[in-house]
Amino acid sequence: NEVFFSGIQPTGVPHIGNYFGFIKTWINHQNANPDGTKILSVVDLHAITTALPNASVMRDNIVKMTAGLLACGVDPAKTVLFQQSQVPEHAELCWILGSLQTITQLQRLPQYKDKSKKYSKGQVPLGLVSYPVLQSADVLLYKGTHVPVGEDQSQHMNLLADIAHVFNLRYGVDFFPIPKMVTSPAPRIKSLKDPNQKMSKSHPSEFSRLDIDNTNDELEAKIRRALSDTNPSITYDWETRPGVSNLISIYSAFTDKSPEEVVAESKGLDTLGFKKALIDTAIAHIAPIRTRFEQLCNDEGYIWQVLAEGSEKARAVAVDNLSQVKQVVGFK
Ligand code: TYM
Repeated sequence: NEVFFSGIQPTGVPHIGNYFGFIKTWINHQNANPDGTKILSVVDLHAITTALPNASVMRDNIVKMTAGLLACGVDPAKTVLFQQSQVPEHAELCWILGSLQTITQLQRLPQYKDKSKKYSKGQVPLGLVSYPVLQSADVLLYKGTHVPVGEDQSQHMNLLADIAHVFNLRYGVDFFPIPKMVTSPAPRIKSLKDPNQKMSKSHPSEFSRLDIDNTNDELEAKIRRALSDTNPSITYDWETRPGVSNLISIYSAFTDKSPEEVVAESKGLDTLGFKKALIDTAIAHIAPIRTRFEQLCNDEGYIWQVLAEGSEKARAVAVDNLSQVKQVVGFK
């Protein structure tokens, strides 16, 4: 039986990279498969490996991410939506899997290389190295079979499949299914300021991303100032025109049209005209999400209640599976 699992870091309000790379795929699956197992975690244990916000910012980020997921259409009646730190079995399984994993392999991962750059030598936190082991534990704790994620997670997904395989091999069991990565039709959304980088919360400029709580004016200003180039026509070529291609890709994600269709429709528009069309589309799609988001943020009690109920459901599965893992390992 299929178990869909994914996680998202509580970095605050989701941006459209999260939305098109992952959240939208999740919601489509959720609504098309009401009976399958679907577990989605707000991964606060992961969030502290890259930044250590103070407690009130941390709580606020958890509320905003959860409210954002709900506003986009995650339905707690169909998806088990829960908070990772409330299910201690994640950390326990991470420890067990960590003993099957070499440091060298973890240090070779591109995301590790990138994130560890900001530390001087010898100062990289252990949590940052073991981050992908925890991510693997997240999925395997529920015997996940399918993992919807954006393209930036592909190396972590390879490692996950590897760890599942190594565990089975080491203990001579067919215990963990080998999870498959599921990508969306728009698996990569780039920064509006630098199309060589993915759109991300960690970029210092607000203008690099569109967030799902942006006002119409903010959406307009950000798209107007998005990087393009001096060629006024609208053509799709990531090699030579990454800025314009990113905007086409975003437009195509909003409208569920292929980039080629978007280009064909935009014949005769210059970059400014195309940006105006994109502004209208972004506003039409984001405004209703923003309204729901604002309503949800007014009721923090409800958000924490959704997470608490989800965490209880997740934990029941986690306790059972971890108990089986302990049997396999010989802890009991
Ligand atoms: P995170 O929190 O960075 O991102 C959440 C999801 O959004 C996708 N995403 C993007 N997709 C396309 N373009 C972008 N610019 C973009 N930015 C983000 C990510 O691919 C992801 O699907 N390590 C994970 C969280 C995690 C996890 C897991 C995921 C922890 N445990 C278990 C799956 C399974 C992360 O940092 O995602």
